[in-house]
Amino acid sequence: LVNAGPTYEKIDAVRFIGNYSTGKMGIAIASRAVELGANVTLVLGPSQVLFDDKGMHVIRVQTADDMYEACSVQFKFADYTVLSAAVADYKPKSIADKKIKKGESELKVELEPTVDILAALGTMKKENQTLVGFALETNNELEYAKGKLEKKNLDFIVLNSLRDKGAGFGHDTNKVTVLNRNGNKFETELLSKHEIAKSIWKIILDKHD
Ligand code: CTP
Repeated sequence: LVNAGPTYEKIDAVRFIGNYSTGKMGIAIASRAVELGANVTLVLGPSQVLFDDKGMHVIRVQTADDMYEACSVQFKFADYTVLSAAVADYKPKSIADKKIKKGESELKVELEPTVDILAALGTMKKENQTLVGFALETNNELEYAKGKLEKKNLDFIVLNSLRDKGAGFGHDTNKVTVLNRNGNKFETELLSKHEIAKSIWKIILDKHD
């Protein structure tokens, strides 16, 4: 099971809160899993990327709530789960069913937290399941990533630093550090997202515990 892409959280009939994720990294992880012979389900947020979905079951979703719904149903069947989606942390408290009209005064949109999909799956995880998360950081990268690994009950976390040139949102390349529960660290060079996906699966499957 892989998730990827941004989520869109509706404000009104024509507007949403989103983010710059394209879904490319998660799509590469799902494609590599197909190459390795796995039965793959990809839960994909609103990504514009065109890709070869042969051999995978793609579930398209929009919001964090929908993504949670799909992932929690699929999780029970998964041996390996990699959650790479840039899920919104907050959503508008209420959604206007019509277009909000322009006014003279300022407009405040009240936000409430979304469900943390990865943390929720971490609490559902069984002995024989491997759960991998991503961490997108701009500072104190290793410390924050380790914190997420422990807090969300993960087996591995893939750290993306926005300080690395050519890494992260929108690029065709990436550079990551994978951490496991024992505090071991595996670093990649700046590589194509497909090569990064290969390295990530190698690290996970080699069971570097
Ligand atoms: N994640 C999730 N559900 C959310 C938010 C994040 O499943 N509502 C997952 C992401 O898919 C990723 C991991 O949690 O695998 C870490 O996401 P990240 O944005 O780095 O961190 P957050 O937990 O959101 O914390 P913060 O924004 O404070 O860094």
